[in-house]
Amino acid sequence: MSKCLELLKTRRSTKRWKDQFKLSDEQKITILDAIRFAPSSNGMEPFRVLYIEDMDIRKELNQAFFGQSGVLTASALLIWITPSENWIENKVVPVQVARNIPEQFATLREGKINGLRATWKNHNVSANQWAARQAYISLGTMIVTAAEQGINTCPLEGFIPGDVKEVLVKTGLMDKENEEVSLACFVGKVDESAEMHYAFSKSRKPAEESYKVV
Ligand SMILES: Cc1cc2nc3c(=O)[nH]c(=O)nc-3n(C[C@H](O)[C@H](O)[C@H](O)COP(=O)(O)O)c2cc1C
Repeated sequence: MSKCLELLKTRRSTKRWKDQFKLSDEQKITILDAIRFAPSSNGMEPFRVLYIEDMDIRKELNQAFFGQSGVLTASALLIWITPSENWIENKVVPVQVARNIPEQFATLREGKINGLRATWKNHNVSANQWAARQAYISLGTMIVTAAEQGINTCPLEGFIPGDVKEVLVKTGLMDKENEEVSLACFVGKVDESAEMHYAFSKSRKPAEESYKVV
């Protein structure tokens, strides 16, 4: 079987954590690079990630995450930050086109922003929602890479973005006017001795409900 598929079939979203476990620096960089090397629409990479180990910040964030146990016991809390439309247009796109498209393709560089505006319109999403979609792709690449490293993860939407933002703005970690909080994930090591360290058993809908080859 494919190694990646085997990891996908066996990895679990973890609910109880060994609170003394810390990822090594190499493991941290490996999972952060698995995010960095994820593909993104038009190669725009419209997000950045905070890897939060600092316990004072995590205590402040706890309520916004409804006290989910990993906030205080996982090795770290990752938070994906996505730019506003204004920043996407004026900061992200100019930097990325200069990085990704050779200078002699000036027309391609200049046309990129109109292409993106058309994508947002055609897919009926705001620029920030489009950025969040790209963030989710990198969540996928990261959780498989983490599993390969023996690192447990739990993706998170169970938080109040505005409340998380308030803490991160206060601590100087994000821009109030031009950034939003999109997604989060715990990383660390499962505590298998704890009750309900995973929720129930792993299940997926049958293949015939999931896909069709035509
Ligand atoms: C985008 C996303 C958000 C999630 N949010 C939470 C969450 O806030 N809290 C939680 O305990 N699990 C959360 N999960 C974990 C899912 O419940 C879990 O992935 C799903 O039940 C399948 O289980 P498995 O990951 O063990 O295969 C989330 C998963 C994803 C992909």
